[in-house]
Amino acid sequence: MSKTGALDLASGLGGKIKKQEVQSAVEQYEKYHVYHGGDEESRKTNYSDMVNKYYDLATSFYEFGWGESFHFAHRWQGESLRESIKRHEHFLALQLGLKAGMKVLDVGCGIGGPLREIARFSSTSITGLNNNEYQISRGEELNRIAGLSQTCNFVKADFMKMPFSDGTFDAIYAIEATCHAPDAVGCYKEIYRVLKPGQCFAAYEWCMTKHYDPKNQEHQKLKAEIELGNGLPDVRSTDQCLEALKLAGFEVVMEKDLSLDSPVPWYLPLDTSVFSITSFRLTSFGRLVTKTMVKTLEFVGLAPAGSDRVSAFLEKAAEGLVNGGKKEIFTPMYFFLVRKPL
Ligand SMILES: C[S@@+](CC[C@H](N)C(=O)[O-])C[C@H]1O[C@@H](n2cnc3c(N)ncnc32)[C@H](O)[C@@H]1O
Repeated sequence: MSKTGALDLASGLGGKIKKQEVQSAVEQYEKYHVYHGGDEESRKTNYSDMVNKYYDLATSFYEFGWGESFHFAHRWQGESLRESIKRHEHFLALQLGLKAGMKVLDVGCGIGGPLREIARFSSTSITGLNNNEYQISRGEELNRIAGLSQTCNFVKADFMKMPFSDGTFDAIYAIEATCHAPDAVGCYKEIYRVLKPGQCFAAYEWCMTKHYDPKNQEHQKLKAEIELGNGLPDVRSTDQCLEALKLAGFEVVMEKDLSLDSPVPWYLPLDTSVFSITSFRLTSFGRLVTKTMVKTLEFVGLAPAGSDRVSAFLEKAAEGLVNGGKKEIFTPMYFFLVRKPL
C-alpha cells in the first residue's frame, strides 16, 4: 500500500540508512552544497553518494506529501493536481507513440508511480532504472499490489553506466531524473546506446531558463536552494540540454518548455500564499503541521534524529522552486522528444 500516514513517514525516513546514522547522513549531504560551503565539483565527483543520500532521506516525505509520482505537471484550470500529474504522464506516452508489446525504459523511475500509470495506459512492459535501493524496494511492493510484477520490473543501476546491451529498448523516457546526472552528454549517450535505432527518447528536464542571469546574486541564491533541496549537482540551462542531446547523436523532433503555456502554474501546489483542501499537505499550513509532527516524532524517538533537518532542507527547496518559478528563471518541464537515427 502507498505509505501516506504519519507513522509511515517516520518509519521510512532515512530509507536504507541505519536509523542511528541518519543525523550524520544529513550533515554529510548538506556539506555537498553551496549553502553549507560545498562546491559543484565535489557534487559531480560524488554524485552517486549525494543523490542516494538525498533519496534515502527524502523519499518518505515525497510519498507523504506528493503520492507515488515524484514530479510536477502542466495543469489546466479545473484540473486537480492528481489529474494533471496523470495527464502529464499520458502526454509523454502519446508523444512516444507507446503501443502494446513495446519494451520501454523509465530512467530514474522513483518508486514507479509514472511507470505503473504509463504501463497501464499503454499496455507496454516497462523497466524502471533507479540507483536507490530503498525506492526500488517500495516500487516492487507497489507493483505487486497493482498486479504489474509480471510485465514491469526494476533494475538497480546508475544511468551513467546501464547494465543493458546496445539497442535493447523500443522507447525510453525520463521524468525529472536526468537532472541528477553529473554530465548530461554522458547520460544522454548512454540512453542513446541502449535505445534501438529509429526509436525515440522523451523527457521532462529541470532547467534554468533564458531568464536566468548567472551574475545576478538573487538568481544564484535560488539556484543554490534548488540544488540543496533536490540533490542536484548543477541545474543546466535549456540550451545546454539541447546541445547535449545533439552531441549524444539524437535528432530533435520537438522541444518546448511546457511551463510557458501551463494555465495553472506548476509551482502552485507549493506556493504558501495558496490554500488547497485536496493538496492540503503541500500548503503552508499543511507543511507546518508536517514539520511539527516530524519534530514531535523525532522527540519521542519514533523518527530518527536528524529528521527535522530533512524537513528543513525540503522546505528550502520548496521556497527556491516557487520563487524560481515565479521569476520564470527555472522550469521542471523542459520537454523534448528526440530520435536515434536509423
Ligand atoms: C525526482 S525523482 C523522479 C522519479 C520518477 N521519475 C517520478 O517522476 O516519480 C528522480 C529519480 O532519479 C533517480 N536517480 C538519480 N540519479 C540516478 C542515477 N545516477 N542513476 C539512476 N537513477 C538515478 C533517483 O533515485 C530518483 O528516483
